[in-house]
Amino acid sequence: MSSMDKIVSLCKRRGFLFQSSEIYGGLNGFWDYGPLGVELKRNVKEAWWQDMVSRHNELLQPKGAPSTYEMVGLDCTIIMHPQVWKCSGHYDLFHDYMVDCRESKKRYRYDQVRGRWVEAKGKKVFITALVEAEQEDATLQQRALKFFNLRGKDADSLIWDGPATSLADIKEFENVLAPDAKELGTLTTPREFNLMFKTIVGALGSDDDAAFLRPETAQGIFVNFKNVLDSSRVAIPFGICQVGKSFRNEITPRNFTFRSREFEQMELEFFCHPETSRAWYEYWRNRRFDWYLKHGLAAVRLRLREHAAEEIAHYSCGTADIEYAFPFLPTGDYGELEGIAHRADFDLRSHMEGKLVKNAEGQLVVEQGPDGKPKHRGSGRDMSYRNEVSNERFIPHVIEPSAGADRATLAFLCEAFKEDQAPDENGNMQTRTVLQLHPRFAPFKAAVFPLVKKDGMPEVAMELYGALKQKFPVFYDEKGAVGRRYRRQDEVGTPYCITVDGQSVSDKTVTIRDRDSLEQVRLKIDDVVAEISRRIES
Ligand code: GAP
Repeated sequence: MSSMDKIVSLCKRRGFLFQSSEIYGGLNGFWDYGPLGVELKRNVKEAWWQDMVSRHNELLQPKGAPSTYEMVGLDCTIIMHPQVWKCSGHYDLFHDYMVDCRESKKRYRYDQVRGRWVEAKGKKVFITALVEAEQEDATLQQRALKFFNLRGKDADSLIWDGPATSLADIKEFENVLAPDAKELGTLTTPREFNLMFKTIVGALGSDDDAAFLRPETAQGIFVNFKNVLDSSRVAIPFGICQVGKSFRNEITPRNFTFRSREFEQMELEFFCHPETSRAWYEYWRNRRFDWYLKHGLAAVRLRLREHAAEEIAHYSCGTADIEYAFPFLPTGDYGELEGIAHRADFDLRSHMEGKLVKNAEGQLVVEQGPDGKPKHRGSGRDMSYRNEVSNERFIPHVIEPSAGADRATLAFLCEAFKEDQAPDENGNMQTRTVLQLHPRFAPFKAAVFPLVKKDGMPEVAMELYGALKQKFPVFYDEKGAVGRRYRRQDEVGTPYCITVDGQSVSDKTVTIRDRDSLEQVRLKIDDVVAEISRRIES
């Protein structure tokens, strides 16, 4: 079993994640968080909100920041005026390329189908498969043997040409064996597919009343820029943060929650003066990278990748991705956790003037329709900012650190998953599964166990449990051997287990066991709440 299979199985077994609508066979690209998963993801989002918004001190200049700044929050609707998406560019441009298979009737994202050229019996074909990286070679070989009507022992007669590559690198599909086909050449040429989910607003609504589920939370922030400015006393530079659901009709959702159709984003739009925007871009890039490191992602699996010029959106003058080497990716590959984009004044101008495009001189201008009028009209509202001291008026530049709550949760889960050797209740070394989650993220901060269910131990343990529960989520367990109870808590990432034994009843002390070091210390019961609080905050 691969480590990813083990993580997926643990998530289901212990109630972190379930497939949505599982009793009806599930719905591809949708996931439900179980009792432990909901706590974990809430903790990730809460840590982000605390660090970005509620604990931010606008009077102090953070290390590396060009100046002090303010941060506020927002919570916008999922369905917004359709014009929002026309001006943002999502209506015309937010698409992926897909290919259809005429034989299997399946649809695939063009760039996600991978395959390899192979020759046998005088014919060369491009065999494809849509599987996890670890299974790619074996699956391609099996498919090639079947296609050429060969047996396993004839595998040597397959002549492979080059490594596996994306279908996007192949020009002609005539000799391509699609992932679920038996015949060659069943794939259509790639076509555009808009990723926004469409819905109809109102009981009498027709297609003219079509609206879209937001594919990002960011636009809610841009269209409320003036409202925030006019209603709170913020002055530039400042940031507006939002956490919420986004929806993308991904063609091939995959890799557990990594690419889902419904997911949550944690987005920050930081408004600043154009002249300082480059310095703010660098500040946010480093600050956000450090956030993942601080919360336990190993430096060897995390990287900050600056986009090459051709990858950068037409309006941006810099984008970097924070990427993590997820275990389901081929060795050396990384998946995006968060993008930090310098968006210049593109968004505020688009909502003011109309959808923008770059002209031949490289300037952003309002796109014209065939009738010479703006293709998608803006709101006409003034989105500029006036500096009250200098009286300077300008359209602020935006730096956007945009993170996925589900992807971050998945990365923290993957990083935390370990199998090590630890002594069982008889002192024998056994393999244990442990989630070494940062205490801030752990669903339960502590567990309380009476050693046995008699001699006054449960009463002492229950009282302590009640006191701890006032502060944070705690688990109470009095069933089975204490060693097994420890293991069950290790597996869900509980950082501290507190055991009430015979001595506890007489001298009012308990032992605290550390999940990672396995160290046990004895402590006065009255000091336990303060000690656990101190440990999880540090
Ligand atoms: N406003 C900018 C924006 O939305 P993005 O790179 O498309 O940028 C930002 O998305 C983050 O949202 C990604 O880095 C990722 O963490 C998360 N995300 C995007 N699509 C996702 C999907 N289909 N499933 C899960 N998370 C996704």
